[in-house]
Amino acid sequence: MKITSIKGFADILPGEVEIWQFIEEKAHEVFGAYNFSEIRIPIVEKTELFSRSLGETTDIVEKEMYTFTDQDAKESRLTLRPEGTAGVVRAYVESEMYQVEPVRKLFYSGPMFRRERPQKGRQRQFYQIGAEVLGRADALIDAELLLLLSDFFRRIGLEGVTLELNSLGCVQCRPVYREKLLAFLRERADRLCENCRRRMERNPLRVLDCKEPSCIEATRDAPSILDYLCEACREHFDTVQGLLRQSDVAYKLNPRMVRGLDYYCRTTFEWTSAQLGAQNAVAAGGRYDGLVADLGGPPTPGVGFAIGMERLVLLLSMRELRQAPRPALFLVWVGDAGRNWAFPAAHKLRLRGVSVEMEGEKKSLKSQMRRADKLRARQVLIVGDEELGKGVAVLRDMDSKEQREVKLEGFEDQLMRKLELPV
Ligand code: HAM
Repeated sequence: MKITSIKGFADILPGEVEIWQFIEEKAHEVFGAYNFSEIRIPIVEKTELFSRSLGETTDIVEKEMYTFTDQDAKESRLTLRPEGTAGVVRAYVESEMYQVEPVRKLFYSGPMFRRERPQKGRQRQFYQIGAEVLGRADALIDAELLLLLSDFFRRIGLEGVTLELNSLGCVQCRPVYREKLLAFLRERADRLCENCRRRMERNPLRVLDCKEPSCIEATRDAPSILDYLCEACREHFDTVQGLLRQSDVAYKLNPRMVRGLDYYCRTTFEWTSAQLGAQNAVAAGGRYDGLVADLGGPPTPGVGFAIGMERLVLLLSMRELRQAPRPALFLVWVGDAGRNWAFPAAHKLRLRGVSVEMEGEKKSLKSQMRRADKLRARQVLIVGDEELGKGVAVLRDMDSKEQREVKLEGFEDQLMRKLELPV
């Protein structure tokens, strides 16, 4: 019986995984330039961490979390993390990182889990690369994170992404806006979808994010949060925008962007691409100044983002299909003596970091050459019984098709030089 993978849980196979590695490598470089340190947090956390951080009325907490009761932890429900921010903040508070140095720039990567309807760019297990800055309330750090993302996209050659920017205000000004919006929505409640009518009173801002055509139509003239920002939020947001303009990072204001998680305040953003269809955000984030205190830490501001790996890979693979890495050398052997020479020789070269491949079973010369070709090996060394007796072998450059006899003694050094690797 064939056992298949679960819907929404995908394999990342060789051929595609190289794009992932390329993205991860570039992300590490950019995070290094901005002085971020890596943090690794568990995949499973107590359910209440997420319900408290993300908000009880969010889609994630209401219906998308993978939650279970562990045999050993009967008293508490556990959840596969749907995102990384809550876990990072929990770790910051639990380890009292702030005692040593309150300002922390942290990045993480790994799988997240949400029981969403799988479709293009939307998985149930998906990967994020995320960054969180704790302990900085200034607008410069918001702009710095956006510059980091813009640098990162440039470095991986991603084009055609748009930065959408909004401010969600703070505990001072958002309640005023909330009341205005609620009054507006109550007048139009009969035109809203059932879901929005149900949660409108508890979370009216979420209605602006609803994708139902009737809700979009009914809220077309809804009041804008940007008209209700208090003095301090206005100044913060103006500074972020000024810094972006100064650095030539283009952006579009989107006052309807409320984000799907409740911890946000002030600056929020999404980088979107028209090529992605309905799931158009390739990276998203914002400020969450109340979260550390909500999770039992000292009042500490926070801001961060997460990049959706699958969506980024989709966009990059539309541009070019990166191929599997090429072995530097394919060892073709003929006869037992050939094999007995080739096996330890391959090991010696691998110890020196050269990527080497060879057959394990007796195959014709022609069939081995075909395989070397298929793997796109850069060089092929042909070791036959006869040549071995003379201490020589044939080295063929698969790109230029040049072929010459080489001495087997000291062959490794020769090959390293040919491959322009340090001897
Ligand atoms: P989020 O908007 O829920 O934010 O997710 C961030 C990104 O993860 C999305 O823009 C998208 O690219 C990707 N993503 C989300 N769900 C899926 C899915 N089901 N399948 C594929 N990709 C997906 C957060 O998670 C926040 N923790 C970001 C943040 C960090 N805010 C502050 N710090």
